[in-house]
Amino acid sequence: TAARADGHAHFAFKPIATATDAAVHVPEGYQSQVLVRWGDALWSEADDAYNGETGVGVDMSDKVFGENTDGMELFDVDGKEVIAVNSEYVNPKINLPAASEGVPQTADEVQLLKNLQGVTVMEIARGDNGYAVVKDSPLNRRITHETEMVLEGPLAGHALVQTNADPSGTKVKGTMNNCGSGRTLWDTYLTCEENFNGYFGATGEMPEGEGYKRYGIGGEGRYAYEKFDERYDISKEPNEPHRHGFITEIDPTDPTSTPKKRTALGRFKHENASMAHARDGRVVVYMGDDERGEYLYKFVSAGTWTEGTYGGDLLNEGTLYAAKFNDDQSGEWLALTPETTGMDAADILCFTRMAASAVGATTMDRPEWVATNPVKVESYCALTNNKNRGVKPNAGGDDTAVNGPNPRETNHYGQIVRWTPADENHAAEAFTWDLYVMAGNPTVYDNEYAGSDNVNEGNMFNSPDGMVFDSTGMLWIQTDGNYKNEGDFAGMGNNQMLVGDPETGEIARFMTVPYGAEVTGLCWNLDKTVAFVGVQHPGGQWPDGEGKPRSSVVAVWREDGAKIG
Ligand code: FEO
Ligand code: CA
Ligand code: CA
Ligand code: CA
Repeated sequence: TAARADGHAHFAFKPIATATDAAVHVPEGYQSQVLVRWGDALWSEADDAYNGETGVGVDMSDKVFGENTDGMELFDVDGKEVIAVNSEYVNPKINLPAASEGVPQTADEVQLLKNLQGVTVMEIARGDNGYAVVKDSPLNRRITHETEMVLEGPLAGHALVQTNADPSGTKVKGTMNNCGSGRTLWDTYLTCEENFNGYFGATGEMPEGEGYKRYGIGGEGRYAYEKFDERYDISKEPNEPHRHGFITEIDPTDPTSTPKKRTALGRFKHENASMAHARDGRVVVYMGDDERGEYLYKFVSAGTWTEGTYGGDLLNEGTLYAAKFNDDQSGEWLALTPETTGMDAADILCFTRMAASAVGATTMDRPEWVATNPVKVESYCALTNNKNRGVKPNAGGDDTAVNGPNPRETNHYGQIVRWTPADENHAAEAFTWDLYVMAGNPTVYDNEYAGSDNVNEGNMFNSPDGMVFDSTGMLWIQTDGNYKNEGDFAGMGNNQMLVGDPETGEIARFMTVPYGAEVTGLCWNLDKTVAFVGVQHPGGQWPDGEGKPRSSVVAVWREDGAKIG
């Protein structure tokens, strides 16, 4: 059962071919069906909210499933199945009237975009036609760019995070650009704020400070929020961007709970979060910062956690580290402290990228998802690609010459690095590493751009991004890459989801998604017979075949009802 056939070093499914069409494809003997689309009602009052011509109106925009689904986790809430799922960003051209040309022209249009991003918490249930969202469930919740939350941990209340609207520096609105996901060992949801910089702009003079440039903050905001809402105008609220770029913890069992931004885990473009339990009881969170030449991090809690208990505010105190990979396949986690960085404790958490530069961490090829093997003490990070590798430094000016786990200049294909902590202890400061796979195209190249030995004409892909282990220890790999199917990418087709066997290194293609889409986000129902897979930014008119393209979560299952995860 599951993805690995029992007792065999091959897969329980027949790998599929690439595709270039506008459909979802899964292996023979499997089925797929859309679970929920952008604009679908979470409450009955929003039943008519979506219109194929005009999209969603502002009045019901916080009562529907958001756009551009990303990371997700499924929780058992007293036997009910509840998915918490991110809506990373919006396509303004799809959501706004044509006359707006992709830029909001009114406060209502800004409000619409704010509401269609963030997080959805939704109960799902299995009926005669498979899984569906339970409309009007008391567990359903939308969290948007305007939802009240609190800053927690060492940066809370600090001068760097005080604003005119919140002199306390503790009450924040919104979680932004919610990319990948994670879950705590005590079953709360972790949503990861990635490209938060894009929501801020300056209508007047830019504030001083190195930190803005390092995080790409300045100029015009991507959605013109700053023109209609001073909170997003850094010439008026220079500290507001310091309140975003965190990992935010959400209790999926209580729709009235206040989300908590965990500042102890650092501020950067958080891709996702993978939590492990160290041998001494402390909790460890691995995290990537998705930008060319940025870093891989981990947080180790000060306190310890005991199985079966609620972790509470365990993520408020601990040590943050950045990874240094040596060319001899050894590595070390470098603690980010006032002594090692020359920065004060608040600056380390607010300007974490600069702290990692100060200790000489290893620049990486865009760290996307991190995943921890549930049956072996090891973790993985998808390094999606880096056209700048060996070409130009990151925004801090750090060295981005090729290095051990980032061995190719102008890297269009990406690779997955894996590390094993010393003494089988995720809290250890030493580790060893290897590359699980180097993506490439063996039909175009016969050098390092052909990829590693476990890449072949039958399974090739580019730009690994989403990455999730199933309960049996198989690694599911999702791509967000070039889908033009030509040149360096000839024969790779649309974006895809593959399954990797960590023991044998074998990788097989399980799913392809419509042209234009990336695959991102994966979780399973409680009995592991159904996988839920995110399809983000599809092209054409998928899945309806008319109207607008709609980002959706798709359910996938085996016709014989066997476990698949
Ligand atoms: Fe939102 Fe780095 O992917
Ligand atoms: Ca991603
Ligand atoms: Ca993406
Ligand atoms: Ca990506």
